[in-house]
Amino acid sequence: MTDVSSKGSQPGDERPVLTNRQGHPVYDNQNQRTVGSRGPATLENYQFLEKMSHFDRERIPERVVHARGKTSYGFFEAYGKWGDEPIANFTRAKLFQEQGKRTPIALRFSTVIGGRDSAETARDPRGFAIKFYTEDGNWDLVGNNLAVFFIRDAIKFPDVIHSLKPDPVTFRQEPARIFDFMSQSPESMHMLVNLFSPRGIPSDYRHMQGFGVNTYKWVNEAGETKLVKYHWMPKLGVRSMTEADAAAVQAGELGHASKDLHEAIERGDFPEWELLVQMMDDHEHPELDWDPLDDTKTWPENDFPALPVGRIVLDRNVEDNFAENEQISFGTGVLVDGLDFSDDKMLIGRTFSYSDTQRYRVGPNYLQLPVNQPKSSQVKTNQRDGQMTYYVDSSGENPHVNYEPSITGGLREGQFPAQDEQGPEIRGRVTRKRIERTNDYKQAGQRYLLMEDWERDDLVHNFVAAISECARPVKERMVWHLLMVEDDLGLRVGEGLGIGPDDVKHLEPLASQDLTDEDRKRLSNLG
Ligand code: HEM
Repeated sequence: MTDVSSKGSQPGDERPVLTNRQGHPVYDNQNQRTVGSRGPATLENYQFLEKMSHFDRERIPERVVHARGKTSYGFFEAYGKWGDEPIANFTRAKLFQEQGKRTPIALRFSTVIGGRDSAETARDPRGFAIKFYTEDGNWDLVGNNLAVFFIRDAIKFPDVIHSLKPDPVTFRQEPARIFDFMSQSPESMHMLVNLFSPRGIPSDYRHMQGFGVNTYKWVNEAGETKLVKYHWMPKLGVRSMTEADAAAVQAGELGHASKDLHEAIERGDFPEWELLVQMMDDHEHPELDWDPLDDTKTWPENDFPALPVGRIVLDRNVEDNFAENEQISFGTGVLVDGLDFSDDKMLIGRTFSYSDTQRYRVGPNYLQLPVNQPKSSQVKTNQRDGQMTYYVDSSGENPHVNYEPSITGGLREGQFPAQDEQGPEIRGRVTRKRIERTNDYKQAGQRYLLMEDWERDDLVHNFVAAISECARPVKERMVWHLLMVEDDLGLRVGEGLGIGPDDVKHLEPLASQDLTDEDRKRLSNLG
């Protein structure tokens, strides 16, 4: 505690004294320094200028997507197995190996489209992003709650997000813009059938599933690779809300999901999720009528069982929202040995985008911030300087050497892994082509058929309400797509919009589409 006689303090008040960032004690925090009590103010008024100019810079740009979120801490506990088999058969990643081994984690839940203070009751995908602070450095798994995504090629991401964000003129989220884009992007149908069902508004974060969505790889000691998908299952079960439920919650509270999670952790009611992994051999799987690298598809669990590999528990809230929730930075490129990318064309684009935006949003030294630093491994780089350098990543024995190689000290390269080559050999010509097995409707239709009656009613109601705001050609194209997804869905939404199959039979498939035989059969039934 700074010992200073403070004009403002009462005698005997033992609380620490306020200072400025230079360490100067502040004895008057109510009045600026002025010439006489009525001014003018003086420019050397350091305390006032520091306080005000720091306040002027309090905000950093919010995330371009997933701006509203809630971070909590906890641990991942490994089972050491994938089903009955030792996990080492499939991955050499250290965090998974030993039964009972715990790795600290930070998890950020989020909504996607709204701003930092927007309502958490929105119909919107939810983010489910985890940072594992492993002994080999950080691993980030950045997923959502709906298992699939709107698009399958990263080049369309700015467009899909622009269509979902507020209109640049009215600044309202406009269904007319959303379905204008989606109706020309048939790969979005599976995601839309999920998003407009009750699953599109989870009741809160504790009753929500998570999915890695993109296809990743596991690599074992021998360099053998598998394709994998990650699933998080909440121990509390899954709960959703209808529009009416959500409106009632929103009337009283904009941040109900963050509040629910924060309060549960405060009272020691720690939420838990189990991590399940689906796996398949690392090749193209020509026997499937969908592509394993397509993030608009799920892998049927009958053929590719989802088996448990560990669990997470959240047991601690952040101490400061800005430092730990606003500045936490996840990325799909952040992997550790034994885990790898696939050639999923979304994953590749994502991997560029996250650290690119974070160097802009948080700053080039974002990885020096405590919440982003590895906690269980050491950082030693030759990266230097840049805005907000917080410390020098420790050098080798000679502080003059911030380069490598060197014979005068400095850092050295690590041990070359025993198996450096992995995965199938890839051949092809440089091109711009969509994948061959697009199959945009089948899984969307299966999802619809799996729903309970009330969920289907809710889906139809929500589709009709949103699509009715669209222009006639967009409505027709949406009904056409929904008939291709499942007759019953297309007929019911069409009825709500006053558009029957006869009204859409003049529509040709889009130039961007490849139809399956099954799709062609449906198409001929329209006519
Ligand atoms: C956040 C880009 C697809 C899940 C973000 C951010 C960007 C971004 C720029 C903001 C990051 C930050 O400011 O720290 C992209 C691109 C995508 C893509 C370019 C496709 C090419 C996806 C998909 C998912 C997803 C498919 C779900 C599987 C998330 C999550 C966050 C996020 C959960 C929030 C992370 C946090 O809580 O900080 N994305 N994204 N994104 N994205 Fe994506």
